[in-house]
Amino acid sequence: MPIVKTIALLVVLVAIAIGGRLWMMGNDASQPQATQQTIGGPFTLVNGQGETVSDQQFRGKYMLVYFGYTFCPDVCPTALQVMAEALDQLPPETAAKITPIFISIDPERDTPEHVGQYVTHFYPTLIGLTGSPEQVKAAAAAYRIYYAKVEEKGADPSAYLMDHSAILYLMGPDGSFLSHFGHDTTADTMALRLKKLVQ
Ligand code: NI
Repeated sequence: MPIVKTIALLVVLVAIAIGGRLWMMGNDASQPQATQQTIGGPFTLVNGQGETVSDQQFRGKYMLVYFGYTFCPDVCPTALQVMAEALDQLPPETAAKITPIFISIDPERDTPEHVGQYVTHFYPTLIGLTGSPEQVKAAAAAYRIYYAKVEEKGADPSAYLMDHSAILYLMGPDGSFLSHFGHDTTADTMALRLKKLVQ
């Protein structure tokens, strides 16, 4: 191949490579935003009084949203305790701007009344929600929460465990995703971050 043609081909290849790279970088830059926007969304569930509740009722307040189940032996109680400790560390005017919400992913056993009772053990303003299997499924999907029944052969069928994501989400007053806390977050760290994020 003549040298001129080779150089011309190289220039074209480099241009394609740079173009592709820029295109990918452009995509990368827009990715986190797109992901954050898709966490959360509309839900219709049932509260401890048996009333239908939608996400719209929490607009104007920050929401701390956690999905779990009342029969959870350790993960859920620990997460709710840490959240309560963090809220206790906030100035009362900041804590008052936050509605903590516990959503059951075990509608089979967690009746509205049972969930409503359960949450009172953790924090005075914690709201417990559940719903029909379809309502719970839709809410969990909106928040990208994974959950599944753990089937154990020979075990008492009513004493099953649930596998579930253990993430606490902070949502803004407009319902949009602001931040999340993993199960390893301490109450002190959570309180510090909440003080910065909740205005
Ligand atoms: Ni749990």
